[in-house]
Amino acid sequence: GITRHYKFDIKLKNVTRLCHTKSIMTVNGQFPGPRIIAREGDRVVVKVVNHVQNNVTIHWHGIRQLQSGWADGPAYVTQCPIQTGQTYVYNFTIVGQRGTLFWHAHISWLRSTIYGPLVILPKRNIPYPFAQPYKEVPIIFGEWWNADTEVVISQALQTGGGPNVSDAYTLNGLPGPLYNCSAKDSFKLKVKPGKTYLLRLINAALNDELFFSIANHTFTVVEADAVYVKPFHTDTLVITPGQTTNILLKAKPHFPNATFLMAARPYVTGLGTFDNSSTAGILEYEPPSVSTISIKKLPLFKPTLPPLNDTSLATNFTKRFRSLANAQFPANVPQTVNKRFFFTVGLGSNPCPQNQTCQGPNGTKFAASVNNISFALPTTALLQAHFFGQSNGVYTTDFPNNPLVPFNYTGTPPNNTMVSNGTKVVQLSFNTSVELVMQDTSILGAESHPLHLHGFNFFVVGQGFGNFDSNKDPANFNLFDPVERNTVGVPSGGWVAIRFLADNPGVWFMHCHLEVHTSWGLKMAWVVKDGKLPNQKLPPPPSDLPKC
Ligand code: C2O
Repeated sequence: GITRHYKFDIKLKNVTRLCHTKSIMTVNGQFPGPRIIAREGDRVVVKVVNHVQNNVTIHWHGIRQLQSGWADGPAYVTQCPIQTGQTYVYNFTIVGQRGTLFWHAHISWLRSTIYGPLVILPKRNIPYPFAQPYKEVPIIFGEWWNADTEVVISQALQTGGGPNVSDAYTLNGLPGPLYNCSAKDSFKLKVKPGKTYLLRLINAALNDELFFSIANHTFTVVEADAVYVKPFHTDTLVITPGQTTNILLKAKPHFPNATFLMAARPYVTGLGTFDNSSTAGILEYEPPSVSTISIKKLPLFKPTLPPLNDTSLATNFTKRFRSLANAQFPANVPQTVNKRFFFTVGLGSNPCPQNQTCQGPNGTKFAASVNNISFALPTTALLQAHFFGQSNGVYTTDFPNNPLVPFNYTGTPPNNTMVSNGTKVVQLSFNTSVELVMQDTSILGAESHPLHLHGFNFFVVGQGFGNFDSNKDPANFNLFDPVERNTVGVPSGGWVAIRFLADNPGVWFMHCHLEVHTSWGLKMAWVVKDGKLPNQKLPPPPSDLPKC
């Protein structure tokens, strides 16, 4: 591989959407940010310079960071933030991954404007295991708030303040023609009849799973989270925040005498507040001869998106993903397990008795937790504390393997909602084979939780609704060709089981990729100790690692 150098200047930029202009934090003045392109095996070196007043860090979402944990990016987990005027160089090699990922700020809610695509091409002269596309196009979904980011954050963390609702969803930073005052801010994809396009879909939205569809077209899913999957056809897909999906779109063979919208809108299982509007882009066919046809006069077709709460569609879609599991791309599913974990994930309501201190964010009664622990970020970085053997006073290794109160979901929200704050981690020996079942508690607005694990891909070996049954359900686990990914939706009122091999020394964050739930504490960390061999150890930190 070669080394690819990028420079990210974090700076303010005035951006107008929906007729509102505001100053946002960007990379190099671009919104969405610049595309990073590399090949499998390349080294990527990104020099980040912070020119804004806020502290910042950048995370390379889905990059495994094998023995390069110092470059992972989550603030107070693998590094202290880059302060105003400071520079930090992220330096990592892409090993065994190819496909679509993305990068985003990983501190507070700054990823609302600081994000962009990360495209990993296969090694030179290695073809895709599917039809070679004529063109490749990243499509990154996001959210737009008319209000300032700081205002949005403080609202989301207030008592009773549900997930703060954005003013628009965006497609490549553009809300599109279905919003008021937005027609000119529409992403346009021009295609030639008969050609095949690889669309690299990325859900960088903060708080919503999305349905996506293209009017009068079907497509083929070929990759998820930078891992090839067995191709399957569909006309609608679901993508949670933190997930990426590559699809092949074959343009109609003849000029269709029409223009089509592609659109996305939320899939919502909860009762909370949400925005049921749609972001849209335009699929425009290049006419056979520009002189004979006026594109503007062509009929425009809109896709029909499923109802907001169409859980059966979402579930059936999600279940279709399978690893290729062939000789060239084997699925290395751990067949034996060294350690089993059962985590409840969900929101909690903490009744806040008079004259007492509540443990939710900002002392309120709302919280989110894993095994009833609402994770508190330390004021220094966990990885530094671990590496230098200074965990005392920073974190404890007593994160529970199971919920403290046995969990029983009966269809009505259970009442074991108490959470306690803590900076607790699970410590694993190098190469531990882990099985983790995550059970949604459905407390409060019954939402599904897209859980994202840093530093690893995992195999989704099972999923279901209701209570996980440790006597019956494992018999049905797929240990042959389960999908391999970095973000999985834990269904509302249900569970997922994942397996991964802890072969990457470091400290690895795991959290709900709904930003409001992360803020409320739905997060934890795994500490993976060094192995014995030199290539099983975390190297020392780079000299420019920021200090707290
Ligand atoms: Cu994309 Cu820890 O996040």
